[in-house]
Amino acid sequence: MSAENSEHVRAKAEGHRAMFGDRILQLSDHLAQWSETPHGLTCTYLSSAHRAVAVEIAALMIKAQLETQIDAVGNVVGRYRSNNDKARTVIVGSHYDTVSNAGKYDGRLGIVTALAVVEHFARAGRTLPFHLDVIAFSEEEGVRFSASYIGSSAIAGRFDPALLDRRDAKGISLADALREANFDLAAIPALARRKTDISAYLEVHIEQGPVLLESDLPVGIVTAIAGNSRFGATIDGVAGHAGTVPMGYRHDAAAAAAEIVLCVERRCNSTGLVGTVGRLSVPEGAINVVPGRCELSLDIRSSNDVLRQDAVNDLLAEIQDIAKRRGVTIKTTKLLNAAAVPCSPRLQEIFAKSIERVGLPVFRLPSGAGHDAVMFDGITDIAMLFVRCGNGGVSHSPLETITAADADFGTRILLDVLENLPP
Ligand code: HGY
Ligand code: MN
Ligand code: MN
Repeated sequence: MSAENSEHVRAKAEGHRAMFGDRILQLSDHLAQWSETPHGLTCTYLSSAHRAVAVEIAALMIKAQLETQIDAVGNVVGRYRSNNDKARTVIVGSHYDTVSNAGKYDGRLGIVTALAVVEHFARAGRTLPFHLDVIAFSEEEGVRFSASYIGSSAIAGRFDPALLDRRDAKGISLADALREANFDLAAIPALARRKTDISAYLEVHIEQGPVLLESDLPVGIVTAIAGNSRFGATIDGVAGHAGTVPMGYRHDAAAAAAEIVLCVERRCNSTGLVGTVGRLSVPEGAINVVPGRCELSLDIRSSNDVLRQDAVNDLLAEIQDIAKRRGVTIKTTKLLNAAAVPCSPRLQEIFAKSIERVGLPVFRLPSGAGHDAVMFDGITDIAMLFVRCGNGGVSHSPLETITAADADFGTRILLDVLENLPP
């Protein structure tokens, strides 16, 4: 962006801090106080911190005059009702669960910006030509049960009951954890919305990358959300004494895992693909024992589904070659297979007009991260607005940061979109 333009944006940003920016940062700080850890923010599905923050979000929604309830999978749903009973519904939201040692804006920014906009409407006594449902989705990251999008899939009518058997690190099933939290599993299917009732799904989210920062821009319109394949892999080799088993006799599960990590890096090191082994562990490992078992995760993404599927097929084949060569067995389990999702050109145009009205340049970019929006593809038109991430664009880290001015722009644009969105 030209120097004169970025000067203009900076000046505008300073002028805008007051309206929403400070409120957004204050709400984000407020919700970050509930964590499973004494320092930092970890808020995974159905932990006591997760339940507490749901109650707090519900209280904030009620104060903003939203008809509020916590549903059967822990989504916090607040309705800002239209005067027209027969009106369709616009859903605006994002997730309130976090990764471990998270930042305080991933997911939550989409909730607090929607909340701030409704507070603004409520103060002005403004109703809209559509019902506005602000939804804080309960589980998007898939940290505890390796099951992503539990909250949004239930609302979108895509909840997979097989997920109820997924177990966490302590062996607790999702079904038992829901029962433990007094949720009624039988009520989950009824959460599904009818396609005809929803007219749009909108989500404001931090970019979680460096593109807006490098472009010196506060916001960007998301064009598409990358497809995502996730697997768990269990490698079974032969445990042995670290001092007595000669190297040539070993079936070392961790050495096989190390080969897999490098093969993911090699195979995905091409344009349009990313591959990550985010979890890697030797259960009950010991310094003087040749690892008999190793567990790891695979996360392969691309905005091109053919590229992603080819990479997944190649990697699964290579993994079995490694198993054969090393005399270990490797069992892979598919955890997620989400196709790349385009964002609605119609809604992108509406966002573009609002961005222009707020006095900013229009910029479009794809999302490498997954978002709850993907669950609504095929149910209704979806759109996302990214807000610039500071600190080099870092996310899924306590270093995640945004400015009040950018938060203000994001909220102001959402307000303008909702004021101009056809029912
Ligand atoms: O992993 C993701 O893309 C998102 O943060 N859940
Ligand atoms: Mn995330
Ligand atoms: Mn997120």
